[in-house]
Amino acid sequence: MIRVTRSAVIDAPIERVWAVLRDFNSHTAWHPVVAESEIEGGEPSDQIGCVRRFTLRDGNRIREQLLALSDREHISTYCILDASVPLRRYVATLQLKRVTDGERTFWHWQSTFDAPPGRERELADMVGTGVYEGGFEGLRAYLRRSRHAPDRAAAAGRAVAAGEAMPAQGVVVSAFGGPEVLRLQSLPARPPGPGEVRIRQTAVGVNYIDVYVRAGLYRLIEPPAALGMEAAGVVVDVGDGVAHLLPGDRVAYACTPPGAYVGARTMPADQVVVLPDDVDEETAAALMLKGMTAAYLLHRTHRVRAGETVLVHAAAGGVGLFLCQWAKALGAKVIGTVSTDEKARRARANGCELPLVGRDYRFAPAVKAATNGRGADVIYDGLGRAGMEENLEALALCGHWVSYGQASGPLPPIGPEALAAKSLTLSRPVVFHYTAERAALNEIAQQTFEALRAGVIRVEVRHRYPLAAAAEAHRDLEARRTTGPLVLLP
Ligand SMILES: NC(=O)c1ccc[n+]([C@@H]2O[C@H](COP(=O)([O-])OP(=O)(O)OC[C@H]3O[C@@H](n4cnc5c(N)ncnc54)[C@H](OP(=O)(O)O)[C@@H]3O)[C@@H](O)[C@H]2O)c1
Repeated sequence: MIRVTRSAVIDAPIERVWAVLRDFNSHTAWHPVVAESEIEGGEPSDQIGCVRRFTLRDGNRIREQLLALSDREHISTYCILDASVPLRRYVATLQLKRVTDGERTFWHWQSTFDAPPGRERELADMVGTGVYEGGFEGLRAYLRRSRHAPDRAAAAGRAVAAGEAMPAQGVVVSAFGGPEVLRLQSLPARPPGPGEVRIRQTAVGVNYIDVYVRAGLYRLIEPPAALGMEAAGVVVDVGDGVAHLLPGDRVAYACTPPGAYVGARTMPADQVVVLPDDVDEETAAALMLKGMTAAYLLHRTHRVRAGETVLVHAAAGGVGLFLCQWAKALGAKVIGTVSTDEKARRARANGCELPLVGRDYRFAPAVKAATNGRGADVIYDGLGRAGMEENLEALALCGHWVSYGQASGPLPPIGPEALAAKSLTLSRPVVFHYTAERAALNEIAQQTFEALRAGVIRVEVRHRYPLAAAAEAHRDLEARRTTGPLVLLP
């Protein structure tokens, strides 16, 4: 058995290095010997058991399987399944350790394998020098490229002197109420303190939750205060102790507290993620909250399996379209509710096999009819009150009612007997709880980016507004005039 071991110190914090290496499909971005990389079957690139297919620059091909991945220990273990180079029984582990100053990372890479007699030295050299040492250098260069985005950082800062507030405008809720309470005013972004980042924002996501906050249904702000939970932009500067972000990074977030409807923002850095090169900022602003919501609803709150019947309410809405696309890709039969024929067309084009058109919230008979009387295995319900009785009616025995929103008003209390009638499960999940831990946030964000990259979900922004027109965006959203995501442009 041959053992190859190499290690290196990378001049970047562990979070930054791990953000790249935990992605089993990232090598074309940084490894000099990898020409093409693909995860088979469109699986997420951090799914244990997923298989990547490499084509190397010298023409060789390798299939490798991910055996273990630990975000806590920063370890990835994988093996070769088959390859055009004779590396037999090849198992490799890479592990990262934080260097004491926190600004650098120790990277240890090792493997064991067998080789045909007489080729041991050649193959050990190929792995140790070509793959591992080449990989260290490739990653260093990659990080330098993305870190030294001085033009981007300078442009983002637009000559803000360190320690000075950055002039910006923002939309505040002047008092709880209708869209008319939204006001544009000057909201400078102060310099970041410890654990904070200052971002020049280029695109802001509008979400139905913003309506609840504006109206005072969710007491997450005390007016006057800025609204919004989702945006993307470029890092201007970071405070002490922020290791995973650097000035010039393109970033996005979806989190509380509200305050995203602004041109520049200073906020806690731990909920901010670096955008992959292939995700532009407008896409990110449309994707972060709604896409991550679809990801956890379909993979965590209820694990949708092939053959299940899924009912998606507001199927042409922001979250609704992602749910339809992704549930269909998982092999589910997707039924949706929508209010207009145009929305039905949009839902159908995005994986909804049977869009039910209407505004009377009478959908149970059609769901039953479409399932031979059985009903839906899971209902993704962002409607709330108006669909309550029909949801109970439309569910199959042992079905799962995932109540994740209340566009028509809050649900009244539901007694256990209503669930016992069919052994139903009721969940009331909230995205921010699923992404509260940084490791979980990274996992769900990467899963969402991966789904985008693989074409499982698609982002089409049809509703763009200047930041100053946030009230108009809210009117359109509440009047049910929109399909898909809405984005404000500062
Ligand atoms: N819990 C979580 O983690 C989480 C995360 C994100 C979003 N959400 C929830 O998910 C839902 C969708 O959010 P979104 O931002 O993507 O919005 P959206 O679906 O784009 O817009 C809401 C849609 O709800 C439908 N609707 C039905 N009855 C309505 C009524 N009485 N008033 C207004 N709209 C009504 C409309 O579609 P039709 O006209 O086709 O009926 C409308 O387009 C919201 O309830 C939101 O709070 C929850």
